[in-house]
Amino acid sequence: MSHLLVEKGVKPGVALLRLNRPESLNALNRALVAELTDTLVRLDNDPEVRVMVLTGDERAFAAGADIKEMAEDSAVDMLLLDQFQRWDQIKRLKKPLIAAVSGYALGGGCELAMLCDIIIASETAQFGQPEIKIGVIPGAGGTQRLTRAIGKSRAMEYILTGRFFSAKQAESWGLVSRVVPPELYLEEALNLAAEIASMPPIAVQMAKQAVNKAYELSLEEGLHFERKNFYLLFATNDQKEGMRAFMEKRPPTWQGK
Ligand code: CAA
Repeated sequence: MSHLLVEKGVKPGVALLRLNRPESLNALNRALVAELTDTLVRLDNDPEVRVMVLTGDERAFAAGADIKEMAEDSAVDMLLLDQFQRWDQIKRLKKPLIAAVSGYALGGGCELAMLCDIIIASETAQFGQPEIKIGVIPGAGGTQRLTRAIGKSRAMEYILTGRFFSAKQAESWGLVSRVVPPELYLEEALNLAAEIASMPPIAVQMAKQAVNKAYELSLEEGLHFERKNFYLLFATNDQKEGMRAFMEKRPPTWQGK
């Protein structure tokens, strides 16, 4: 049985993916991660989809990698499986991916949310990297992404103790963009996705690429990358349409070309 529910067209241009292993608080076993990454790559190449939203359920976005599945693995098993290498496919997605987080986002669940471009959190969300409590450390980006997002001192505190932190804390530290009441988090994420999906899609992808480069490149290189993308957008019909529509005081019609 599939542990991932996919709904295309939930809003115009928006695909919704729901992690669906409620009995395990959406623990990310290898089959689920394979299905998730394959589906995201497929939707990334689907012209009907412009933005993707990833969610879990009220109780958990995801409570981490599946501890039961990996508990008896050896280091050689881990090296040969190289299970986290699949997660790099999420990093390479061209289209925006929004996480709608309610309840637990722990370990690999927190890392998965941080791999998304935007996090919208319910007031019930609890984040954390509790791997230290089971004898390991974050393995899917937590030591790097959490540190970049909330700073070294806080990242050390939470990674070395495994303590959880709240949606409000995550918001005040810049890890999530917004915290909303539990009944609104998914709607809020879907509305945001629909708004982004109504923008010119090539410009959206170029903007996403450029923002992500801020984490990879020096300021000089990042500015250079941004400038090249800006100039390149003048090759699109949508740039001509957007600027002409502004001058003609009418709404633009995007072609995605
Ligand atoms: N893996 C496998 N099963 C998990 C799981 C996980 N990460 N998290 C929860 N579950 C299972 C529980 O074993 C339990 O199953 P059973 O009913 O069969 O016993 C079920 O989900 C419900 O969980 P609890 O009964 O524990 O629920 P709770 O409300 O008492 O506690 C919790 C909730 C605090 C989230 C607790 O489940 C917990 O601490 N989970 C583990 C969190 C964790 O350590 N995550 C990191 C995993 S390692 C990792 O992610 C590595 C990486 O960097 C990628």
